[in-house]
Amino acid sequence: MSSLLLDDVYALEQECFSHPWAREDMEDSFNNPAYFFFVCKDDENRPVGYISYYQIRDEAFINNVCVTKDARRQGAGRMLVQRAAQSAQDNGASFLSLEVRSKNEPAVKLYESEGFEVEGIRRRYYSDPEDDAFLMTKRFTPEFDVGLGQCGRGITIIPND
Ligand SMILES: CC(C)(COP(=O)(O)OP(=O)(O)OC[C@H]1O[C@@H](n2cnc3c(N)ncnc32)[C@H](O)[C@@H]1OP(=O)(O)O)[C@@H](O)C(=O)NCCC(=O)NCCS
Repeated sequence: MSSLLLDDVYALEQECFSHPWAREDMEDSFNNPAYFFFVCKDDENRPVGYISYYQIRDEAFINNVCVTKDARRQGAGRMLVQRAAQSAQDNGASFLSLEVRSKNEPAVKLYESEGFEVEGIRRRYYSDPEDDAFLMTKRFTPEFDVGLGQCGRGITIIPND
């Protein structure tokens, strides 16, 4: 994994989250072959979002996805989720799963619109502020095809391989 991509992901974490991932933990994941990262950049080559997921045998889990405030509602989040889903399926996953705050409407709507279904609820899983976690899963079928490339504004996806 290039250190430049790690720098991009670290900067995006700082920008998008009040409790960003610690740099050392991120580096550990970057060096772990079970983890996959995709960064998307705008037409001026600025990183505007990233997604990470990890896979153990046929089980894949999204760790995080974020898009900078200025770049939201332009399709980048959807493109990242689609790219991770395609990658997981190509790597032999039978499903892609995640945990999300039940009150995080943008994320829940994004996942629902990409075929994820709520398969469980962890009550009061999150604090500050308190919230339930939805366990959402997208199950792959042999016919699964994400139809990449529906995103506008010249956003491209850079993988970590
Ligand atoms: C969730 C997030 C990644 C979405 O990124 P995005 O680039 O804005 O998403 P997209 O433009 O691809 O939108 C895809 C779909 O998501 C849903 N969506 C996105 N933002 C929404 C909002 N503010 N309100 C309601 N639905 C929303 C819509 O269904 C949208 O489809 P549409 O535009 O055709 O209506 C972004 O809001 C974000 O970074 N949030 C903060 C970090 C976070 O919460 N990450 C999730 C952790 S599990």
